[in-house]
Amino acid sequence: MTDDELLAAADAVAARAYAPYSRFDVGCAVLCRDGRVVEGVNVENAAYPLGVCAERTTFARAISEGYHPGDFVVAAITASPCGGCRQWLAEMRVERILFRNGGRVVEMTPDELLPEQFEADDLPV
Ligand code: THU
Repeated sequence: MTDDELLAAADAVAARAYAPYSRFDVGCAVLCRDGRVVEGVNVENAAYPLGVCAERTTFARAISEGYHPGDFVVAAITASPCGGCRQWLAEMRVERILFRNGGRVVEMTPDELLPEQFEADDLPV
């Protein structure tokens, strides 16, 4: 699975987004170490803050299927990841992130997306 193919998978799955409020469809496709691609979309809600970004539905699905942080090689997203999703991408220890932004395709690492991350090591327990 090439980066272009993964981005094409993210583009295709975006058609399944449930985004009646923003009308902004987002797709995410994540390549796992075993070669499987897990996909997700944003799912909005009439109570706006309850909506979930495409990245989070994708990783919640992957974790539910038995994957763990560190099992993810590349994430392709049809939009620039929001701040909260950058924290999720860091938590999942994805190696590389590809995303569309203003007609360009950008590639970054989690550290580049979110420098000086909050980590569990910072917790007192
Ligand atoms: N959205 C995502 O799915 N991922 C992001 O990282 C950016 C924002 C969604 C949330 C909402 O459904 C819509 O895009 C508009 O903000």
